Amino acid sequence: MSFSKPTDSKAIIDGVKEFYGKQLTKSEDLKTGACSSGSRPPKYAQDAIDLIHKEVVSKYYGCGLVIPQCLTDMKILDLGSGSGRDVYALSKLVGKNGHVTGVDMTDEQLDVARKYMNYHADKFGYEKPNVAFVQGYIEKLLELGIPEGTFDIIVSNCVVNLSTDKKAVLQGAYSLLKEGGELYFSDVYADSDLPEKIRRLKVLWGEGLGGALWWQDLIKIAENVGFATPRLVNATQFPITNNELKKLVEGHQYVSAEYRLFKLPAKPSSPCQVIYKGGVLGSEETFQLDYRRQFKKNEPVNVDEQTANILQNTRFADWFIFNPLPDNQTQEVDKDGSLDPFLYIATKDIKAPNGGCPSAEAD
Ligand SMILES: C[S@@+](CC[C@H](N)C(=O)[O-])C[C@H]1O[C@@H](n2cnc3c(N)ncnc32)[C@H](O)[C@@H]1O
Repeated sequence: MSFSKPTDSKAIIDGVKEFYGKQLTKSEDLKTGACSSGSRPPKYAQDAIDLIHKEVVSKYYGCGLVIPQCLTDMKILDLGSGSGRDVYALSKLVGKNGHVTGVDMTDEQLDVARKYMNYHADKFGYEKPNVAFVQGYIEKLLELGIPEGTFDIIVSNCVVNLSTDKKAVLQGAYSLLKEGGELYFSDVYADSDLPEKIRRLKVLWGEGLGGALWWQDLIKIAENVGFATPRLVNATQFPITNNELKKLVEGHQYVSAEYRLFKLPAKPSSPCQVIYKGGVLGSEETFQLDYRRQFKKNEPVNVDEQTANILQNTRFADWFIFNPLPDNQTQEVDKDGSLDPFLYIATKDIKAPNGGCPSAEAD
């Protein structure tokens, strides 16, 4: 079945709701290897995921890992939270004084997520749940009744591709973030602007293949709404396991990639020297900002103005020492690398990921 045109938002939204609310019952029903793509969770994240109720995990439809560093006490919003796997993992990691809100448009998904609020509060040793699940549309985040500048972090896992108005999603996220906050999200990207014949196919849209952005368009939209240039954290191939779908998208390549988009002060920073103090949970010896920039504990690194702006004006600032650039080293500042996830995959030896597919035994 085809949509009459790829911008027919109502038909697409209804189709996506039906797909996630009624057609899919478990991760394995997807015709792509979505849940097996993305980064391998580090131990502390996997430990949190392992505590999540098996029904929640069985309906995980994400395509990457959306667990950034430094989460204690953070206020987080998850766009398209589904059955709540990422919300609950983050709920554990922000601690009892943090809070995580999930927004989703599909009642069946929200019902599963809400069913286990007390279960997880008990499991994590909290007096009351530190999560909320709200019904709403990610294109209309400012209609949720949440004040602008509320969140430290916004995450999203394999959802933005399903939206017919990606700019509205990013614009809303930008408004709801505090200054210094970040949108850290995983999604499916195409290697070109997908033709209308692909974007019209209902079967492709629900699976994340019809609405996937050309990665270059993400960069443009992000900068257009005010974010700093996106940082590519990781990318892996997006496996299409079904032959019918493979045929429909023949000639097009897809990846699953995690980008982080920071909302930074307009006032530019200057290039400087930074020293990571060490000690962030899961990043005790090395702090990874993106795929190119890793900061080893106690090792001075010269950074350009954008990286300085990120490290000085976000929750990461307390973990770094900032010094002026040494006089004789002004030319050695590390410059931005490619943001192309396809190039990244082509030049990197990608290890087989497990991406956090259902495995939890909790009941
Ligand atoms: C691929 S699933 C991912 C769910 C969850 N993030 C996970 O990793 O399991 C997509 C989810 O996004 C929701 N969704 C899709 N488009 C949406 C929109 N425009 N507004 C709100 N939710 C949306 C769907 O209802 C579904 O629960």
